[in-house]
Amino acid sequence: MTHASLPTTLPFSLRGQHLVGQEMFKVMERAQKLERQGKQVYHLELGNPRMAPPPDIVDATIEAIRAKHVGYAPMGGLLELREAVADRYRHRTGHEYEARHVAISPANLLISQFLDLTCNPRDRLALFTPAFPSYWAAASHIGLDVIAVPLTAENGFHLGEAQIDEAVAARPKAVIVNSANNPTGAVYTRPMLELLARRCEEERIWLLSDETYGELSFGWPFFSLASCPTPQAVVLSSFSKLFSIPGYRTGYALAHPDVINKLALSTSTLISCLPLFTQLGCLAGMSVMEPYVEKVRSHCNRVTAACAEAINRSGLLRCAAPESGFYLFVDISAVGLEDMAFCRRLLDSHQTAVTPGRSFGPAWDTAIRIATCGQEADVMEGVRRVIALSQELGGIRVAA
Ligand SMILES: Cc1ncc(COP(=O)(O)O)c(C=O)c1O
Repeated sequence: MTHASLPTTLPFSLRGQHLVGQEMFKVMERAQKLERQGKQVYHLELGNPRMAPPPDIVDATIEAIRAKHVGYAPMGGLLELREAVADRYRHRTGHEYEARHVAISPANLLISQFLDLTCNPRDRLALFTPAFPSYWAAASHIGLDVIAVPLTAENGFHLGEAQIDEAVAARPKAVIVNSANNPTGAVYTRPMLELLARRCEEERIWLLSDETYGELSFGWPFFSLASCPTPQAVVLSSFSKLFSIPGYRTGYALAHPDVINKLALSTSTLISCLPLFTQLGCLAGMSVMEPYVEKVRSHCNRVTAACAEAINRSGLLRCAAPESGFYLFVDISAVGLEDMAFCRRLLDSHQTAVTPGRSFGPAWDTAIRIATCGQEADVMEGVRRVIALSQELGGIRVAA
């Protein structure tokens, strides 16, 4: 008897039942199925940067493998990389960051690790929505009650005092804040981030500041919560988008040494450690980060702004002016199809993959997210196809 012909498995645990994953990976799988049938698909579903990574990183990684750095690594990450990250934050913030304040782990895993370490099942987690799908997935897996605090398009999806009050009033165990934001691109102001950190400290609420796209802010200078450290705040970032190396699965957390020690134990429990050669590659990238990130930032600024302009000119679709990164959160309410159906139709009839809005919170089913970090010509063609479908559905005649 094969596995496929077995009627069913045994029942899964509650945590197993509550695994939801990230919708954009499911969309990518459907898109790749079409590609295997020989169709060309425009990939706007994942934040999967297609720029070439810095050669220093690639060379150092290959060299590290040739030098047989293929054994186990320390559970909290390669000491030299932790030191390099700490140095960078010490210079940026003036605070005495050292290696003991840094843990190396994949950013996506760090979200789960943070919630796992700080929250018990049925605790409340406050999210400002729309919010990155992994926050919802990790909360569901652990069994947390999510308090969704919506931000509004009218306000450019910025964080305001009223929303901070609403989040704190719900008496959550933890809050996650994400500036620069995925999916809206909004960069929150320094006074609002400081207020949130202060309120969380006063009310003894854990705070995760996800700063994965902070360096890619082109709206105004990005403010890192590493600049006002509190014992219960954890700053998270990733090398994936900064160096265009998501497959390296390398990110880091900056926090109180007690939290860092717990994160290291968590990593050793879950995956033992990260590969040495990818960490050595990232270490080589630290010295070329500023000029490389500047190139990525100006590329993102130009392409994302061009896409936003085309979308807002289209008549039926709307999105906020982007302030960072490479995402647009597009309001499709005028086209008359909800997000899932729109995305399915877009993939089937226009060979273009985007992410449904409800992946960022159940209330956002009249939106889609577009990622603009692919090859520029493909991204522009994908956006043209999104607009074409919206115009077909909205009854506007499409030019040939
Ligand atoms: C806001 C945010 N946080 C965390 C992550 C996870 O980053 P990584 O893929 O480097 O683990 C992502 C990835 O897209 C993200 O958008």
